[in-house]
Amino acid sequence: MAVRIDGKALAAKIKGQTAAEAARLPRRPGLAVVLVGEDPASQVYVAGKERDCAECGIESFGRRLGAETSQEALLELIRRLNEDPRVDGVLVQLPLPGHLDEQAVINAIAPDKDVDCFHPFNVGRMAVGDPVFLPCTPAGVMAMLDEYEIPIRGKRCVVLGRSNIVGKPMAALLTQRDGTVTICHSQTEDMARHTREADILVSAVGRTGLVTADMVKEGAVVIDVAMNRDENGRLCGDVDFAAVEPKASYITPVPGGVGPMTRACLMRNILAAARLHQA
Ligand code: GUN
Repeated sequence: MAVRIDGKALAAKIKGQTAAEAARLPRRPGLAVVLVGEDPASQVYVAGKERDCAECGIESFGRRLGAETSQEALLELIRRLNEDPRVDGVLVQLPLPGHLDEQAVINAIAPDKDVDCFHPFNVGRMAVGDPVFLPCTPAGVMAMLDEYEIPIRGKRCVVLGRSNIVGKPMAALLTQRDGTVTICHSQTEDMARHTREADILVSAVGRTGLVTADMVKEGAVVIDVAMNRDENGRLCGDVDFAAVEPKASYITPVPGGVGPMTRACLMRNILAAARLHQA
């Protein structure tokens, strides 16, 4: 039976450290959270981030904009936040309404305030192994592996999903730690052939029931990044948890696994940004 990785407890520890270090800075760190439109999931995520900020002694400046906001108005707001000395981090919650150009919006965020680590400058710095910020979800996964002393070097790591937010940076970080990494995606032929080889399997697809027990090697470490809703509206991941738990060595639950870690790593990035700005 697998050990359940307690993301909630580790996130609380990281947030406690972040709060202690933030309190020692001459000025409170600040985060501007920009939410465009009324996507219910985004509203929940943003509220969670604002709560975390409060817990960590980080000031949050919420900016709620209507769904009809123009690209120009959004870019203008980002320009103002880039110049605001109280603001150390600028976070634009994704996805944006369809008429907005997400990449152009990300590109407009000052790289030294890009606490999501989405800007191409920071993606490049991470890719060459000289990061300013680490992307929050992959960094959270790495922190969990390290906390439970799970070795990565030489291990077969399989990442399901190739998004810019999770899959691609996850593969980069595992590679930097000497994992042997395969990325599977919607066009992969016979995905199970790859997953069955995995010592560490990270699923970030967003499809309930994607990872079944027959796809998992005995003793594998299974990390579930997804936040899906099942047919009863309950939060669940990609992994068939009940069936995979007996087979895995370590497994992350949903909720209480990766989710809280993503948010804790965001707080850590805001602290890092504040240090940059106050140095
Ligand atoms: N949407 C889903 N995950 C994230 C995230 O980590 N950051 C932002 N800005 N938007 C998201």
